[in-house]
Amino acid sequence: MKKRGKILFWGSAFLLLLNFASTIYLNITVPNPEWDWSRIDTSKVSFPDKFLWGAATSAYQIEGGLYNNNWYLWERTPQRFGVPRIARDEKCGLAANHYELYKEDVKLMAEFGLNAYRFSIEWSRIEPREGEFDQKAIEHYRDLIRRLKAAKIEPMITLHHFTDPIWFVDLGGWEKEQNLAYWMRYARRMFQEFQSEVTYWSTFNEFNLVPVSGWLEGGFPPGKTDFHLFATVSKHMLMGHVQTYLEFKKLSRTKKHQVGAILAILEARPYNRWFILDWLAAYYEERIWMQAMIEFFATGRYHVKLPFRDSFTYTDTDGIRAMDFFGINYYTRTAVVFNFFSPTFYYRIQLPGFPKTDMGWAIYPEGLYFAVKRYASLGVPIIITESGVADATDTIRARFIQQHLYVLSEILRAGYDVRGFYYWSLLDNFEWLEGFEKRFGLFEVDYKTFKRTLREGSKEYQKIIRQFPGRGGS
Ligand code: FCB
Repeated sequence: MKKRGKILFWGSAFLLLLNFASTIYLNITVPNPEWDWSRIDTSKVSFPDKFLWGAATSAYQIEGGLYNNNWYLWERTPQRFGVPRIARDEKCGLAANHYELYKEDVKLMAEFGLNAYRFSIEWSRIEPREGEFDQKAIEHYRDLIRRLKAAKIEPMITLHHFTDPIWFVDLGGWEKEQNLAYWMRYARRMFQEFQSEVTYWSTFNEFNLVPVSGWLEGGFPPGKTDFHLFATVSKHMLMGHVQTYLEFKKLSRTKKHQVGAILAILEARPYNRWFILDWLAAYYEERIWMQAMIEFFATGRYHVKLPFRDSFTYTDTDGIRAMDFFGINYYTRTAVVFNFFSPTFYYRIQLPGFPKTDMGWAIYPEGLYFAVKRYASLGVPIIITESGVADATDTIRARFIQQHLYVLSEILRAGYDVRGFYYWSLLDNFEWLEGFEKRFGLFEVDYKTFKRTLREGSKEYQKIIRQFPGRGGS
């Protein structure tokens, strides 16, 4: 008994010591930088002559009338005990009615002063049934593109922004490698249709977030929590990206097309900087969330692991730098808490002590700087393909924009090759699990009349664009 007590005592003392020694080391070598915003004059900015000043949207979130994809089904598939998937059990329905009002929306962009616009093409509209392409839908997007170009707004197409046609899901969707052939047929067709008018292309929006949310954490469709499936879907999306990139490079008549990869950048910090297991959890969370994919584009090797549980590796050297630009979607950073009982052995929370947006996301503008610094090592130009704020009362939008554009200006001043910035979003829209309550728009949308109204806070963005008009990209 006495012996056991001794072992317990010295064992605990040893672990405590180990914890402190390692966290002291980590606290010194991995700092947690924060800028003192009270001493920063955010009006001191400057931007290059040529710069993409844009806004971003996605089809499902603004178009309306999309009843043939996985999100339509998801809204109608309650969770356990009948709890709705979407806040207040909202349905996307007509969204911001942009499919009808797109001509007016292009006028709004032009009046605002944007020289770039990023939007997604809805696969389930283009190919409503397997192998049947809808020419009317193709012409709709062609008209949108032509109107943008006539207004001197550079279009950027996203081929996939979270939604899959129902027929694709029924065939096993991203879980099956053979389904990549369907994806490639759609992607190829879009490139053939629009390559003469559109220079900027992106494959999947946030193809790190899609497998994590859909197959590991289960919040997005299809709502699974299976590490192996998560990694398999990640692999198939990486393959889909690389194949699309190589194919577009081959098909490009001008060789000027810019095909990018867009990821959701979310740095993870240990919640308790004096607890080694929080550090470990933050390390694995960051790898699973984004680092493994980024490493794939640097080395050709994708490797994810949950210690003592499972691991997965996929290698393809064609993946090395398979992009003309790296798209960063940046909103916030998170804190990670170790929890042995969660499927991933950690959970994510918001960092305490920071002002928050209506999404509850901590406002951390300098994180954009650190992200660019970190990913510049990929050796390709960077575009900030999304950054923005949910702010229904429009009280923090102006400051948010000032701070983020100040950070952007500092990034450029330090010499990083960043080509553009797309504010999320042009219009208020359907924010996935959160529904319509979260107001991201430069323009407010009245969902009864679909009237658009420019928000006061958005004028900060307009001011900067007027001061540094840039020109579009190509
Ligand atoms: C990003 C998504 C975008 C929007 C913003 C708030 O992760 O790409 O569709 O929902 O978050």
